[in-house]
Amino acid sequence: MPTEADPLNARKFDYQEVLRDVARSMVRLKRPDRLLKLITRFIDRQFGLTHTALLVLDPKRGRYVFVNSKGSKRLPVGLVKFDLDHPLVEWFSGSKKKLPFQKDYLFLSDIKKMTSRAEFRLATHSKADQLVKIQKAMENLKVELLVPGYFKDTLEGVLMLGRRVNGRGFTSQEVMFFQTLAHDCSMAVKTAEYNQSLVDQNHELARRLEEIERMRNKEQRTYYEIMRSLAEEIHAKEPYVFGHISEVERLGMMTAREMGIDLSGKTRDLLSAALILHDVGKIGIPDHILRKPEQLSQEEWLVMKTHVEKGARILEPLTDFKRVREIIMAHHERFDGRGYPRGLKGEEIPIEARIICVVDSFHAIVSSRCYRGGRSIDSAIHEIRDCSGAQFDPVVVDSFLKALKKELQKKGPT
Ligand SMILES: [Fe+2]
Repeated sequence: MPTEADPLNARKFDYQEVLRDVARSMVRLKRPDRLLKLITRFIDRQFGLTHTALLVLDPKRGRYVFVNSKGSKRLPVGLVKFDLDHPLVEWFSGSKKKLPFQKDYLFLSDIKKMTSRAEFRLATHSKADQLVKIQKAMENLKVELLVPGYFKDTLEGVLMLGRRVNGRGFTSQEVMFFQTLAHDCSMAVKTAEYNQSLVDQNHELARRLEEIERMRNKEQRTYYEIMRSLAEEIHAKEPYVFGHISEVERLGMMTAREMGIDLSGKTRDLLSAALILHDVGKIGIPDHILRKPEQLSQEEWLVMKTHVEKGARILEPLTDFKRVREIIMAHHERFDGRGYPRGLKGEEIPIEARIICVVDSFHAIVSSRCYRGGRSIDSAIHEIRDCSGAQFDPVVVDSFLKALKKELQKKGPT
């Protein structure tokens, strides 16, 4: 039972200020266990109790556990666990009819007074039985006052307070202070739990996104490999010599290097993919046109030209290859603007497409076709040089020829 406010004590202790401090700590401390420790230590020091403990709901295990215990009568925290059907938990969390008291706290002295009455001992209602068990629990735990804390209708915890060492009782102002404190702590714990669950959800989301990204990359890689095989297949169908794809790639990289293009990381991968896949659209060109040894008719030529759009369309699922699609679309554009499909001119044509145009043509000239033998390297160089500034970008031609010359010098006379 609380006593009247002690004016002397009230002067020494500013409850409002302490509650404001607690509120500030709640905002500052993101981990609820630290806040609860802080509260227990504060009560222990400020009120000088034989025992200060916090019983807190462990939602995962569905029971209440001691998270802190301080004072001369403290108990090992891991040992005290109350199931949901424990009378003390049921008393505070169960029905709203807290007979015989209507208050949101319990004093051991009040229970003792009640249970010592003859009519109480004769009573058979369940609340009487419950109170006897609560009294026993409080005596075992050496606590004098129980103050519950709620969040909405859920009992989040119980503040368990022992006797004052100096023997003085609690004032009603102090009990109100404990009630507010218990309420604020419940709010803080719930908010921290909610924040933590948001953090956990975010981590889980990030992990899933990573997994999706990993799978997407894997799928893209597989798709790319299939496209690469297709590209090789197409050239195998054409009357080119074997190895056109890898040769065009090699010559293209060599030219880009000579031009001083940064070939680290993604740039290299994109150029390599474009060099390999530039004619992948030919998969959609009928064999009788693709393999025709004679000159194509006007109509057949129009069909053949569609391989650039077809190639770009085939690569649409490779979302990382947007640039490769642009290059493929432009690999038959001419430097003078007379190419197809859009008639782009000069630097409007992606540099990679200008490189492909040169090295693909060069390799086509020197390769054997069934309707005519491959021509010599000198003849091919001559033709490339002749078309510089018209079909080809002169800068690309210069770099290509320089790189080729270096390579031929390295190989020596054949
Ligand atoms: Fe082509």
